[in-house]
Amino acid sequence: MSNLLVKNIELLKKEKNAIILAHYYVDGAIQEIADYVGDSYYLSKIASETDADVLVFAGVNFMADSAKILNPNKVVLHPDVEADCPMAHMVTTSKIAKMRAMYDDLAVVCYINSSTDLKAASDVCVTSANAVSITKALPNKNIFFIPDRNLAHYVADRVPDKHFIYNEGYCHVHENMNVDNIIAAKIMRKDIKVLAHPECNKKILDHADYIGSTTGIINHVSTCDDKDFYICTEIGVIYQLEKRYPDRRFYYHPNDVCADMKKITMQKIYNSLVTLSPEVKLDKEFSEKALKPLIKMLELSK
Ligand code: 13P
Ligand code: SF4
Repeated sequence: MSNLLVKNIELLKKEKNAIILAHYYVDGAIQEIADYVGDSYYLSKIASETDADVLVFAGVNFMADSAKILNPNKVVLHPDVEADCPMAHMVTTSKIAKMRAMYDDLAVVCYINSSTDLKAASDVCVTSANAVSITKALPNKNIFFIPDRNLAHYVADRVPDKHFIYNEGYCHVHENMNVDNIIAAKIMRKDIKVLAHPECNKKILDHADYIGSTTGIINHVSTCDDKDFYICTEIGVIYQLEKRYPDRRFYYHPNDVCADMKKITMQKIYNSLVTLSPEVKLDKEFSEKALKPLIKMLELSK
């Protein structure tokens, strides 16, 4: 990594009163230059509280869009607009309307990994860190959980008194993880602990010793005496794990990569700061409607 590029990014941040928010799935070098690194919940909370003039989002579209929804009057930059999460589009607003027509008492619970129009049509947003507690706290019996079916099943198992309606969305990175890799790791290291993200399917989660958000996974290691861990989430998390816990060993499959997260590069961040583009621009009506479920999430998570 060019030191000059990093230095120039630092200078530009000061000059423009800008901050960089990075998700754990972006490259380690970008996590290093970020002012804030975290899971989706943490990053949305930071975005709701910052007094910076410019926010550079090192993540995928729905994250940069959420930052913009929370800060309609600030400049929010997304260094590569092509960095999009496919799952964020895996349900339609017409399906939401259809479900609303079918159930009187329906709460549409929207995983934050969703496009702005989907958020705008929902009652509350959730992240993997707070989906269980927020869903539990809702007065509604019927829950249409969008778009991720794996997270929906994970939540439903922990909130048995509610009726869940599932949607066929999934994250291809977590969905394509192969249980045989975990079994092989367990044969190789019999005391290995398996830490998994709830976007994984049940076959993977059934092998997990701990299930949680990216922050949850990272923090969980500090509570364990174990030496070996098999990590079932995107490999950007390995960077943090190895940095924070040099005395532990982390195993993972090298295919567990989110190509969209990796589209964010140092050069693109630099270009964004120089040109103040690409700037996130959202439809005003959708953006105002999407603010409500995001604020509700932040309130219910306090
Ligand atoms: P969290 O970091 O909130 O656990 O989310 C994972 C994810 O897939 C983000 O795209
Ligand atoms: Fe979307 Fe999966 Fe990539 Fe997260 S890891 S941004 S859910 S495709």
